[in-house]
Amino acid sequence: EKGGFDHFMLKEIYEQPNAISDTFRGRMLPEKGIIRMAGVDNNIERISNAKRIIIVACGTSWHAGLVAEYIFEELARIPVEVEYASEFRYRNPIISEKDVVIAISQSGETADTMAAIQLAREKGAFVFGVCNVVGSSISRETHAGAYTHAGPEIGVASTKAFTTQITVLTLMALKLAKHMGTISNSDFQMHLQELERIPDKVQKALNSDEHIRKIADIYKDATNCLYLGRGFNFPVALEGALKLKEISYIHAEGYPAAEMKHGPIALIDEQMPVVVIATRKGYYEKVVSNIQEIKSRKGKIIAIVTDGDTEVRELADHVIEVPETMESMSPLLTTIPLQLLSYHIAVMLGKNVDQPRNLAKSVTVE
Ligand code: M6R
Repeated sequence: EKGGFDHFMLKEIYEQPNAISDTFRGRMLPEKGIIRMAGVDNNIERISNAKRIIIVACGTSWHAGLVAEYIFEELARIPVEVEYASEFRYRNPIISEKDVVIAISQSGETADTMAAIQLAREKGAFVFGVCNVVGSSISRETHAGAYTHAGPEIGVASTKAFTTQITVLTLMALKLAKHMGTISNSDFQMHLQELERIPDKVQKALNSDEHIRKIADIYKDATNCLYLGRGFNFPVALEGALKLKEISYIHAEGYPAAEMKHGPIALIDEQMPVVVIATRKGYYEKVVSNIQEIKSRKGKIIAIVTDGDTEVRELADHVIEVPETMESMSPLLTTIPLQLLSYHIAVMLGKNVDQPRNLAKSVTVE
């Protein structure tokens, strides 16, 4: 049932090229210049007239929401807020009929997300669900939705659900942008073409597995780890840190790279591994200067870079390459090495990768 892999998590990491293409297949029609998503098509006016979009979710799904915030604001120019469902539901949030709430949940059963949806509905918002499990409670409680087609995710650590959530939300943002005229036809086509190339690029990112395993071996005994990224890759830093925490029990923090100097930089010494997402687009030069700050404090730098990068290679202790892509799609690639890094560290430490202590696959109690 693990298809020859030692763990479900590894199997699911490797399923991502297919899971992503299953998620966009049939929805993207580049020759017609359209994206077809019934849940969006049937409510296109309601959604595109939203004064703002509020995304509610927990854990990894919340991280996908943060990536979506950057994507929606860039492409569709609709203001987006991303909220932890647990916070949203208890703070008497200001919501009106003009708001659209997007609830993201792999399982479709997360109690806090479910309660946030009910609250948003009571206040008259239109609620759109992005779930993986077909027929789940959340998919039934929402006005409309779009499924991720990731297939069953068994490992407690979410992997392919995350990348397929980003895929669905990218499609949705592109579709809205097209409808609202905030994207040109040629730009729209370019995005579709690039999304079609992503599964192959994810496959290439997976080819670094052995190299990543060697890096894992060097850092497996670390007690802390910092993850840094900017822009679209800031949420990826959070996600990388969550993956390491939950399966290897090593304390990790994700931060926007520029925030480092406002506190976390005090933690850096020669014992501290710092994983930095430093792909060529996205404030590259700024990230390079963040890397220099770490280096001058003797932190160990593991950098995720674009294929062929030379500048960061000179500064970093280790580099892991991912293929070049558009900035908005880079999280789909930069996430892969972070998943593999935490996987290998957890295996080397002898942890129960698929069922980490104290955690359940779906959190159905608040
Ligand atoms: O099923 P959901 O997407 O609603 O679950 C949300 C979180 O519980 C989940 O993403 C959790 O953080 C994962 N274990 C992270 O790997």
